[in-house]
Amino acid sequence: MPDIETDNRATWTAYGTHQLARGIELPELDRWAWDIPAAGPGIEVLGDVTGLRVLDLGSGLGRHAAFLAALGARVTAVDSSPTQHQRAADRYAGTPGLRLLCADAVDHLRDADPYDLVYSVSGVPFVDPRRLLPALANGLRPGGRFVFTALHTNSRGDGPSSQVVPRPETLRLPGTAQDHLVHMWVLAPRLWEDLLVEHGLILDSVTAIDAPQPDNAASYRLYAARRPQRVPSRWLLYTSPSPRDTR
Ligand SMILES: C[S@@+](CC[C@H](N)C(=O)[O-])C[C@H]1O[C@@H](n2cnc3c(N)ncnc32)[C@H](O)[C@@H]1O
Repeated sequence: MPDIETDNRATWTAYGTHQLARGIELPELDRWAWDIPAAGPGIEVLGDVTGLRVLDLGSGLGRHAAFLAALGARVTAVDSSPTQHQRAADRYAGTPGLRLLCADAVDHLRDADPYDLVYSVSGVPFVDPRRLLPALANGLRPGGRFVFTALHTNSRGDGPSSQVVPRPETLRLPGTAQDHLVHMWVLAPRLWEDLLVEHGLILDSVTAIDAPQPDNAASYRLYAARRPQRVPSRWLLYTSPSPRDTR
């Protein structure tokens, strides 16, 4: 894992430690939310998940993963922070259909059997997309879907970058005025589309999810992409042996 992402893991571990110490029991999700409750679409974006092999990337407390497991999906919830993983294990260990893993999502995708669906509620922007997206080549089956939310505009009103570079953002520890630094890839939708296409995926839709309060500029984008059933011929060209090799 590169240094900048190792720093992110340390920050999320401090966040998880803080939440474990607070001991506040958040309620179960009564309705699926993509980042901002009651804003934007819900679980219907994922379609029928019964029986699907699903990965929750950057699962945190694990409430979304548990929600899908209760609907009959076979869910793996992966989080690289030991304390974020601990929060999920304290709450959901032994839940039928749910496997909780503490691992880097990229390492996991490289090794795992391919998933039918990889989704993420705001875990993706903490991982270098040039490291993550190649790992999906192994981790997502042909026809499988990759659905994720990503920060688009922060609450101060800073919009997305037009280059594939991370930038500092603040992460406030709940119930305090303490801000921690995280590095996030906050990219313009056009950049996300280029990256997804570059890695053999098709982008089906991008949906805006805006904070409902007029004084809060926070806005996310929900990206729904998929791996084609068949590998396009231009990809085959790259992997075909050259004429010299076949002599
Ligand atoms: C914004 S939180 C989202 C948590 C959860 N999805 C939710 O909606 O409550 C981002 C999570 O991604 C995790 N994360 C960041 N980088 C990761 C990586 N490389 N592999 C796995 N998890 C990662 C963090 O530890 C953190 O728990």
